[in-house]
Amino acid sequence: MFKLRKKDFLQVSDLTADEVFHLFELAKDLKNRHNRGELRVPILKGKVLGMVFTKPSTRTRTSFEVAMLQLDGHALNLFAEGTQVSRGETMADTGRTLSRYLDGIMIRTFEQTETEKLAKYSDIPIINGLTDLHHPCQALADFYTIWEKRGSFKDVRLAYFGDGNNVCHSLMQAADLLGAEMLVVTPKGYQPRKEVLAKLKNGHKKITITNNPKISLANVDFIYTDAWVSMGQEGIKKQKKIFRPYQVNGDLLKNAASKALVMHCLPAHRGEEITDEVIDGPNSIVWDQAENRLHLQKALLAALL
Ligand code: CP
Ligand code: NVA
Repeated sequence: MFKLRKKDFLQVSDLTADEVFHLFELAKDLKNRHNRGELRVPILKGKVLGMVFTKPSTRTRTSFEVAMLQLDGHALNLFAEGTQVSRGETMADTGRTLSRYLDGIMIRTFEQTETEKLAKYSDIPIINGLTDLHHPCQALADFYTIWEKRGSFKDVRLAYFGDGNNVCHSLMQAADLLGAEMLVVTPKGYQPRKEVLAKLKNGHKKITITNNPKISLANVDFIYTDAWVSMGQEGIKKQKKIFRPYQVNGDLLKNAASKALVMHCLPAHRGEEITDEVIDGPNSIVWDQAENRLHLQKALLAALL
């Protein structure tokens, strides 16, 4: 079993392109075996993954838990409100303690720095299951889905519409690493963060950022969108009307090539960032993306744990 160079997976840029392709090959093998009915592949026999959540989750939680089960390991749900984290025990002390029991931790939380602290003070691999800044497991599964559909990233052009935050940042890092082109279309004030742009390995040569929702989509192969209001931002007064021109709807698809496929990390806010006709339409591949979370999670866990 190949091992990743770094102990932790906190953002896509922790991986090399070679490592990503190794993960994709492993995920493909595990997916094929799963689809042939080989549900248990005992790669992680006896290993235990802790899952810390300070935000809700359906896909991430379920796919990690099922992945551990099907690899013959076990996953523990450590909801933050049920642990001493909720009473102020630091990430450093939590990491030091949990390292004595567990073989790895997947954490979903607000600040990216909390995942970094946990990684610093833990002897075991830490996986970022979403922060305000990154969602690297999502981007891995998404680029795997693109790879399944297209076979390579040569001449692949992905357009992202909406808020330039966590999912967008991770997709940009993946596009940068794997050589796909990306068009990022956000309202003013919601562009990707400068510190993320500054760290793109290839100097974001193939990434274009614009506020123009009417930009030509003629050469775009994949159109991606995400929530206008992310978890934890519910209390912030976001002007949904600012996002309205960036909605992925039938009119927007008319501007794109007829074969352009539509992606969404889910959960979808139907009628906001995406319409029913598009998410339920023939160009939508959102359920393939969700399914692939399981297979990528397995590959990642196998390579890290
Ligand atoms: N896409 C995603 O991470 O979904 P959940 O929030 O349900 O985990
Ligand atoms: N940007 C969204 C992604 C959900 C998977 C959020 O952070 O809520």
